[in-house]
Amino acid sequence: MVKIFKLKNIISIKDFEREDIEYILDEASKLEDIAQSKAISDELKGKVLGLMFFEPSTRTRISFETAMKRFNGQCIGFASSDSSSVSKGESIADTAKMFEAYSDALVIRHELEGVSKFISDLVDVPVINAGDGAGQHPTQTLLDLYTIRDEIGSIDNLNIALIGDLKFGRTVHSLAQSLTLFNNVKIYLVSPPELRMPQEILHDLNKTNVEYVEVDNIEDIIDDVDVLYVTRIQKERFVDIDDYLKIKGAYIINKKMLEGKDLIVMHPLPRIDEIAGDVDDTKYNKYFKQAANAVPVRMAILKTLIKNNPK
Ligand code: CP
Repeated sequence: MVKIFKLKNIISIKDFEREDIEYILDEASKLEDIAQSKAISDELKGKVLGLMFFEPSTRTRISFETAMKRFNGQCIGFASSDSSSVSKGESIADTAKMFEAYSDALVIRHELEGVSKFISDLVDVPVINAGDGAGQHPTQTLLDLYTIRDEIGSIDNLNIALIGDLKFGRTVHSLAQSLTLFNNVKIYLVSPPELRMPQEILHDLNKTNVEYVEVDNIEDIIDDVDVLYVTRIQKERFVDIDDYLKIKGAYIINKKMLEGKDLIVMHPLPRIDEIAGDVDDTKYNKYFKQAANAVPVRMAILKTLIKNNPK
């Protein structure tokens, strides 16, 4: 049976069914050689990707650019509001309309939840949410799932700890919701009480077969998990800096804690101090591979959306 990817936009991981996720992951596997520059492709030659980044990014923006260039496509856009006419007072709606005229798909990062959805309702080209405030980061989730499947062999039967800033961390929101589509998954939610997973995400988990438990300490669960998914405390989302300083450095993974364990360590990056440098040279480190996996996964996303929705 030929599989079909039905979505025009990638706004929330909640729009995905399991077969949509598997479609992108399978496509990404096929693109590994091109992603690693061992082959060439004109798949998106002549196509233009619009990058609207109102919030800082290294991996997401650059990996989308790399993905487009591996297909002989081109990128336009801005990396901060300051370098666009938004800084002169132009509306996001007008800015998006310009990008619709100039490009074949849009990638949007913004500090406010819902901006990608708002733009997708205004334009005819595919829109990809590259992170909206403390909301969603669906393409990060796709590359996280790709990494888990690649490293562990399956997403079903997974025991995973999501650690750190579960309140503001959009990557863990999307990832937790995606795991509801798989079988026999157990999620350990490890955070200080102030940074617990939001109620609406727990509500989504409660509606499914995913088992979850909220805990304070990594030591309590480290022997039970296949994956430690570590996140940064999102300093920029705290209203009161003193609240951030009280929690900063609450969880730090180091090499000694991991010795003898049968698990992998992932992190969407950037990291601050939550994974010590001595983990980098161990077999547990999968966070750099995870970041590299962004290229085949985002190639699969761009190829699928742009080819399925020609201008
Ligand atoms: N993982 C991630 O979203 O990283 P950037 O903020 O650097 O894009």
